[in-house]
Amino acid sequence: MDAAHTLDFPRLLEAAEAAARATAGQGRVADYIPALAEADPESFGMAVATVDGELYGVGDWRRPFSVQSISKLFTLALALSHGGDELWRGVGREPSGNPFNSLVQLESEHGIPRNPFINAGALVVTDRLLSLTGDAAGAVREFLRRESGNDQLDTDAAVAASEAAHGHRNAALAHFIASHDNLRNPVEDVLEHYYAHCAIATSCRDLVLAGSFLARYGVRTDGSRLMTRSEAKRVNSVLLTCGTYDAAGEFAYRVGLPGKSGVGGGILAIIPGRAAVCAWGPRLDRAGNSVAAVAALDSLTTLSGYSVF
Ligand code: DON
Repeated sequence: MDAAHTLDFPRLLEAAEAAARATAGQGRVADYIPALAEADPESFGMAVATVDGELYGVGDWRRPFSVQSISKLFTLALALSHGGDELWRGVGREPSGNPFNSLVQLESEHGIPRNPFINAGALVVTDRLLSLTGDAAGAVREFLRRESGNDQLDTDAAVAASEAAHGHRNAALAHFIASHDNLRNPVEDVLEHYYAHCAIATSCRDLVLAGSFLARYGVRTDGSRLMTRSEAKRVNSVLLTCGTYDAAGEFAYRVGLPGKSGVGGGILAIIPGRAAVCAWGPRLDRAGNSVAAVAALDSLTTLSGYSVF
């Protein structure tokens, strides 16, 4: 594997964009949250932030989009850094093999969600982060602002309201978890914070900077430590096995990196010890992962030889 500085990232990003553009027309923009359906399906952006502080981008890499489930990477990291392993009493860390908003497993597994990235698990993590900080969505926003240096990034209130108005499945999941005494805050508060962090609008640029602590094994952009090296390894491991839901096997096969997708069309992936990479294109495959972003990340890791394998 080449050292980071010997790689020609501008050319790799050009090739990744070409691979993404070749998927034109495939997949569908999410519309189960009506505000997300307004995204331009032809948008594409990609950015890389290396552990040495280099930043590269291509296409719409500075254009904000709805982070959606990518926020779950940050809620998990912040909940662990504030509260430690106690979190794992209320949420598992096995792949679910089911869609991200599935209800079925939760009943047979007594209200303990399979992992922190399916919606059920993210609701539990949001609940714990709310107890730990008093403002779960605010903690995520603040972290993203600090790491990216973008004080403007914020929750898109229209997207949050749209999701709340069509949030019957998430409300059902939250009530079911509460019925098993696995929420410490009122369901309404947990849902409000969950929607608010999912509806944060920000760009590939900001997300690679904010995610780069995982590439630096837990060290933030200012050099302080968010979590131990061992904790960073564990977060990356759960990203690899669960970050792209029931397509985690296919994502590992094609891309070979820990990564987190969102139905806004972004995927944030980590090359441990080297870089954070984010690709964005709004058309999704059936599992809810961006077709263009997977193709772009596949191209980048294939051409560079960068992966965890
Ligand atoms: O709760 C939801 O359905 C959305 N806020 C997030 C889902 C999501 O992004 C799944 N990721 N691919």
